Amino acid sequence: MRRIFILLLAAVLVSCQTKETKIPVVGTTANKAMVVSAHPLASKVGLDILKKGGNAVDASIAIQFALAVTYPTAGNLGGGGFMVARFNDGTVDALDYREAAPSKATTNMYLGETGEAIPELSTAGHLASGVPGTVAGLEAAHQKYGKLPWRELVQPAIDLALNGFTLTEKEADGLNGVREKLEKYNTVSPRHFIKEEWAKGDSIWNKDLGHTLELIRDNGRAGFYEGKTAENIVAEMQRGNGLLSAEDLKAYQAIWRTPLISEYRGHKIISMPPPSSGGVALVQLLKSVSSYPVNEWGWNSVPTAHLMVEAERRAYADRAAYLGDPDFVKVPVGELTNDAYISERMKSYNPDRATPSENLKEGTIASAESEQTTHLSVVDEAGNAVSVTTTLNGGYGSKVVVAGSGFLLNNEMDDFSAKPGAPNMYGAIGGEANKIEPGKRMLSSMTPTIVEKDGKLLMVVGTPGGTTIITSVFQIIVDVIDHKMGMQEAVNAKRFHSQWLPDVVFMEQGAFTKDDSLQLVEMGHEFKSRGGIGRVDAILVLPDGRLEGGADPRGDDTAAGY
Ligand code: DON
Repeated sequence: MRRIFILLLAAVLVSCQTKETKIPVVGTTANKAMVVSAHPLASKVGLDILKKGGNAVDASIAIQFALAVTYPTAGNLGGGGFMVARFNDGTVDALDYREAAPSKATTNMYLGETGEAIPELSTAGHLASGVPGTVAGLEAAHQKYGKLPWRELVQPAIDLALNGFTLTEKEADGLNGVREKLEKYNTVSPRHFIKEEWAKGDSIWNKDLGHTLELIRDNGRAGFYEGKTAENIVAEMQRGNGLLSAEDLKAYQAIWRTPLISEYRGHKIISMPPPSSGGVALVQLLKSVSSYPVNEWGWNSVPTAHLMVEAERRAYADRAAYLGDPDFVKVPVGELTNDAYISERMKSYNPDRATPSENLKEGTIASAESEQTTHLSVVDEAGNAVSVTTTLNGGYGSKVVVAGSGFLLNNEMDDFSAKPGAPNMYGAIGGEANKIEPGKRMLSSMTPTIVEKDGKLLMVVGTPGGTTIITSVFQIIVDVIDHKMGMQEAVNAKRFHSQWLPDVVFMEQGAFTKDDSLQLVEMGHEFKSRGGIGRVDAILVLPDGRLEGGADPRGDDTAAGY
């Protein structure tokens, strides 16, 4: 009975769709340098910095400050992120400026009296925020690699905040969608981002945010973690019973980490290590499919999709059990990404049948103790590459604007596991490794990645999308390397996603033909249609050395180069 229902559902889902394989689209191309980000004004800021002689790190910093103004849904001062960089001499680095749990956080802080998880507490309002990491991260990146003076990187964002800019339709819709929550959590005038009805083309400015940025321009991290901004954050917490304290802010540090490096069909994959689960899961996924001829099988064909979903199911089961902040739990990165472990894990893969997730647990390893984000990609004239994913977690984060400072705080605490087995807002579950502890960083899926071929830069890639981030980056890499797609073509291509639990394959309309999806349902897969999966902003080095930017048409994303 269940199977007949699922078959009928699949038939309805796919009845009006055609398979869009090779969409003949070429992205923006440029000879020397390229930026791709979620907002046209932020991309312009990045391009101007590169033209002024700034390097890719400088441009990525200026873009992030500009996004904090023009893209309030995810661009941020009150959130955190990860940067992966590859320099033109081949050296690589990774920066973790993920939010951390406040010192007063407790493991059971989001549980009700009967021990049930209360999602509202970790997803909105003052209690949902971790200690913001962005400003510390951008300063750390600048101190180690910046070329232009700091103030020149912050100034364009100040100008945007003080002089104003016009809203895109998507941002206007986004703000209208969260108006009620903004009204609920923000009572002090001026009540930023709140208006009866925002429309495309409306002017928006934020003097408080402009002044906060001036403090950051003049004082670096102290302009945020100390002084007036810190005082305003603490006052905001007192107003709404939040936990962030002056000591939490002062103590926050960005951490340099060693990028996770692996190999896929002769390419070097450089990605983010824990506390992101992204790099580990991406390496597991690529290794899981690397011995199969997905190129011969074809893009989103039945065998390709089945194999990828089965790999995803296994990787996400491991993610739930083993991944967390490496400064608090031992994350067995080496074991999880080891070739022998992956082949053992894929032994239960049946090319003809889906493995029910309820029958699949995490793999056994020798010793284990344990919607909104935004991505930007930059390549500068010298060939340095930066891949940054940064987030408030959900769209507009906790919906709490720090009164007097004009910026939104994150709701990143929801990325912790509130209780073993309780799903977070992305349906991800976790356990001991990702439980809440004071000062700990919550597990992330953000996967800023760089791909190298024959010792040369090939691709810079990443995306928002919660748990779908990892599978979107996986698909882009497979689309480019196996299916020989161009950058924009791969970014446009319809995506699907599976994460072990819930045991369904989420898909964008057009990802599969009707016949293929019926066949996949016959093999035991259940499908659920979903709006856009991810917003990938990526850059590909073309064989003639030019750069192709792929900006995701699912958003306002824009590529700009010269
Ligand atoms: O770090 C993470 O994995 C999540 N906080 C990312 C959230 C996200 O991508 C929302 N975007 N649609």
